[in-house]
Amino acid sequence: MRFIALGASLAGMVLFTALVAWSGAFIFPALFCAVLSAVGVWDWLQPRHSLRRNYPILANIRFGLEKIRPEIRQYFLESDLDGAPFNRLKRAVVYQRAKGALDKRPFGTQLDVYAMGFEWLNHSIAPKLPAHEPARIMIGGPDCPRPYSASVYNISAMSFGALSANAIRSLNKGAKMGNFAHDTGEGGFSAYHKEHGGDIIWELGSGYFGCRNADGTFSPERFADEAAADQV
Ligand SMILES: Cc1cc2nc3c(=O)[nH]c(=O)nc-3n(C[C@H](O)[C@H](O)[C@H](O)COP(=O)(O)O)c2cc1C
Repeated sequence: MRFIALGASLAGMVLFTALVAWSGAFIFPALFCAVLSAVGVWDWLQPRHSLRRNYPILANIRFGLEKIRPEIRQYFLESDLDGAPFNRLKRAVVYQRAKGALDKRPFGTQLDVYAMGFEWLNHSIAPKLPAHEPARIMIGGPDCPRPYSASVYNISAMSFGALSANAIRSLNKGAKMGNFAHDTGEGGFSAYHKEHGGDIIWELGSGYFGCRNADGTFSPERFADEAAADQV
């Protein structure tokens, strides 16, 4: 089959060359067919795609369509609510607000509010006064010499090494102002954690940063010293 195709291709080239020699009007059809023949021969010779080897020229149409598939889907097929992480509807709101255009839609939502799992918030018909203090939990029972009333909102562990001196200062100042705790992460309890005096949860990882001996082993003495600080 391939040999027939190659033969036909060569025969075509010879024929078109003869036609062009006979009349210059055949130059464009001849060029067009020559390009197609070249693509076909290249498809037939290349070893990477079996589809192109078996269906020279035609297989390229399939690959071409596959290339523009995302655009076709996005512009013509996708619904305004498809697409993750941001669907077209949400994206449109961002554009509208950025351009100061109207971002409201009268006459209700486009969302399917009856779909399984659809969640929403309702106004309460019996509202309660919000708590003035955020919820806290007591850590340490009656026998504990230093019980701690922990906020349920705190700052997640992020090592000094993963952030910067200023980031640590800011986070700790926030903890101080908000009366919650700042977790050091595994990178140690640095001098920057101490500047504003916000509560500290001192996290220890296998590096023992801030409480290790020169040979890298755990130092109970250094640990006891640091851990005894009021801030910790
Ligand atoms: C920059 C950075 C550094 C972190 N360093 C630590 C760390 O040292 N120890 C640790 O237990 N978790 C570390 N984490 C994980 C966070 O404490 C937290 O578990 C994670 O960000 C998910 O919490 P979130 O959902 O509140 O963001 C780090 C996270 C970030 C983004």
